[in-house]
Amino acid sequence: MKIGIPAETYPGERRVALIPATVPSLLKAGVEVAIETGAGVPAGFPDSEYEQKGAVVIADRTRLFSECDIIAQVRGAGANPDGAEADLALLREGQFLVASLDPLAATDMMKQLAAKKANVFALELVPRITRAQSMDVLSSMASVAGYLAVLIGATNLPKFFPMFMTAAGTIKPSKVFVLGAGVAGLQAIATAKRLGAVVEAYDVRPAVKEQIESLGARFVELPLETEGAEDAGGYAKELTDEQKRKQAELMADHIRAADVVITTAAVPGKKSPVLVAEDVVKGMSPGSVIVDLAAEKGGNCALTVAGETVVRHGVTIIGAVNLPSQLAHHASQMYSKNVATFLLHLLKDGKIELDMEDEITSGSLVAQNGEVVHPMVLAAIGKE
Ligand code: NAI
Repeated sequence: MKIGIPAETYPGERRVALIPATVPSLLKAGVEVAIETGAGVPAGFPDSEYEQKGAVVIADRTRLFSECDIIAQVRGAGANPDGAEADLALLREGQFLVASLDPLAATDMMKQLAAKKANVFALELVPRITRAQSMDVLSSMASVAGYLAVLIGATNLPKFFPMFMTAAGTIKPSKVFVLGAGVAGLQAIATAKRLGAVVEAYDVRPAVKEQIESLGARFVELPLETEGAEDAGGYAKELTDEQKRKQAELMADHIRAADVVITTAAVPGKKSPVLVAEDVVKGMSPGSVIVDLAAEKGGNCALTVAGETVVRHGVTIIGAVNLPSQLAHHASQMYSKNVATFLLHLLKDGKIELDMEDEITSGSLVAQNGEVVHPMVLAAIGKE
């Protein structure tokens, strides 16, 4: 079998699905690896490095798709709306597609992929279980985003993060409030602490209190009835409207007191909860910064504009999108490790044999034999 890595076509995307260092592990598993000319260049991996590691370089994208049995991408189909049509035309029956696909939102695209009779895997759906940790692209990319969000916050803030004791006086450290302490949030907390800020964080899942405190931040306890806020997979469940209103009210003082607010609150498959209202922004000090990582899914702040930086009531609100692409080298390294581990999980003696009893395989397979098969995707289609 041959694995093909096309160049990414999503506007501004710099990552690549496989880096040269990962090629040997796949060759050892009995498969060949092909890469489209220049696919790794934006992330700092020239074609020659792939060749040195035993991959072949193919200049023509159409040929790459037709020669390869498995196509691995960073942003496929639904995660690349403008480029999806062109790739869909190249996909063929029986081919395996392994990519981030935004399967729960781009349901129409999932139907179109299924109609191609390809075997379609969405990496976002890999279950968050211990055994699959090294395949979890959401976690890898969220930690990149959490790290960068803090750097962006720091450079947009007209203040130092750490305490400064200078001959010109003592400067108090900045206060950072992190809303949502999943993977992105925890990485944001760790990064803000390293930069010397005073950090507070809140999450609806009380289970994260210990993790927040172990990073040296303060867990903000809100007297909210969030019993059962976590589902069996450890994800947050959506709060009721009343719970959301109460939470926003209780959190307001912490947000107003912060110099930088990093928002990461997400519920899988749902629009992000709006937790920072305009009134709260109005109460923040001029020059404060909100970095909204949930921007792509609607945003946690009511004033966020996805992909833009806006100043409202003196507060800089950054609708951060696709941050991992800005850190393309290491983000690709992490993504590549995740993809290779996933592929090695599917490969047996150089061939893919789908074991549908396996929770990782069945949990991430979106379409097979012309049908959408994933229950969550089917449920999303049913709601249309
Ligand atoms: P995650 O699922 O690990 O964490 C989200 C956290 O939000 C969970 O801990 C959850 O309990 C919490 N949460 C949910 N509802 C909440 C509420 N009402 N109040 C407080 N906390 C609440 O997600 P992950 O992987 O950390 O991603 C976080 C966000 O960052 C997502 O929106 C994701 O799409 C986004 N992201 C953005 C990127 C960008 O470039 N802008 C890149 C990668 C991720």
